[in-house]
Amino acid sequence: MRKTIIITLAAISFFSCKTQHQSQSLQETFNPYFYIGVAINNAHISGGDYDGGLLIKKHFNSITPENIMKWEQIHPEQNRYNFSFANDFVALGEQDSMFIVGHTLVWHSQLAPWVQAISDSARLDAVMKEHIYRVMGEYKGKIDGWDVVNEALNEDGTLRESFFFKVIGPDYIKQAFEYAHEVDSSCELYYNDYNLVNTPKREGAIRIIKELQAQGVKIDGVGMQGHWNLNWPSLEAIEESIIAYSELGIKVMITELDITVLPNPWDLEGADVNQNFEESEKMNPYPNFLPDSVDILLAKRYEDIFNIFLKHHDKISRVTFWGVHDGDSWLNNWPIRGRTNYPLVFNRNYKPKRAYKLIMKTAEKYSQEKSE
Ligand code: GLA
Repeated sequence: MRKTIIITLAAISFFSCKTQHQSQSLQETFNPYFYIGVAINNAHISGGDYDGGLLIKKHFNSITPENIMKWEQIHPEQNRYNFSFANDFVALGEQDSMFIVGHTLVWHSQLAPWVQAISDSARLDAVMKEHIYRVMGEYKGKIDGWDVVNEALNEDGTLRESFFFKVIGPDYIKQAFEYAHEVDSSCELYYNDYNLVNTPKREGAIRIIKELQAQGVKIDGVGMQGHWNLNWPSLEAIEESIIAYSELGIKVMITELDITVLPNPWDLEGADVNQNFEESEKMNPYPNFLPDSVDILLAKRYEDIFNIFLKHHDKISRVTFWGVHDGDSWLNNWPIRGRTNYPLVFNRNYKPKRAYKLIMKTAEKYSQEKSE
């Protein structure tokens, strides 16, 4: 009898736990700690990906446009701005009172060709100013935070000799932040980059931020793009970086979180990245499904990382996934086209993966421990 009761209770708790995870959402669970954001694409914005739209509405309280606000799309010709998708993106966020992020104002990549033809410093500065005024101005009071400058650093922490650097000089960063502040003084302004957990690059970012602060230029936060893998970066590097950036008195965000499970061509001894890997089975080991053994590693990796985020939630304002589900991810096509990757917490069928369940548990455990 006793045994039956125990088994029944165990079954009830298993199923209630299951339904709890199904009915709860990421945004509710993490609401006490930080925003849970997601990068969204045209199909989400237009309603073409209906199921994706449902996941966004349910699980996320912040959105970032994956591509539609990049210069080449929003300002493709000197006198032509293309605001239609961006308008729908902003409307979608407003409908659900989400924290809306603009991405990105000044970046050397995905830049419109007409801009790249400019070689005069004063002219480029004026064009950059006009772009910031027009694009930010269009959504003034609606977009809550902007990635003002994206990826201005080399791996060794020196300033990247990007197009803007070469034409305007190192001051383009300061100029961009000043123009952004002039447009909307209550909007949060961020510097966003990848590999910001690596010591030399971290020091470079700290230098940029300190220089802006010393000149009285407003910067509210740093976005650590979380394009990570199963082994890198170390948990220590993530934690140290969060602490180091937070000590500058700014908000820390994990802005582009995805964890690749596929081999990286750069890790192959003597690999030539230009080599054609597209047909290689070795480089695309899970074309049909992710084996449990790897799914478990991925889930554990997400759990470890979220443990750090929770521990430092007082310093972190937002964690944004770069894509809704595995099928959306840019990592299916980069750095090798046509692979099948599994970097997110929802699978291609819009279902929560092990990683989802573990990070939800991590948050529940954290909140229980805090309330004890
Ligand atoms: C960088 C950019 C993003 C996006 C990703 C890849 O991280 O900031 O906008 O292009 O690369 O999708």
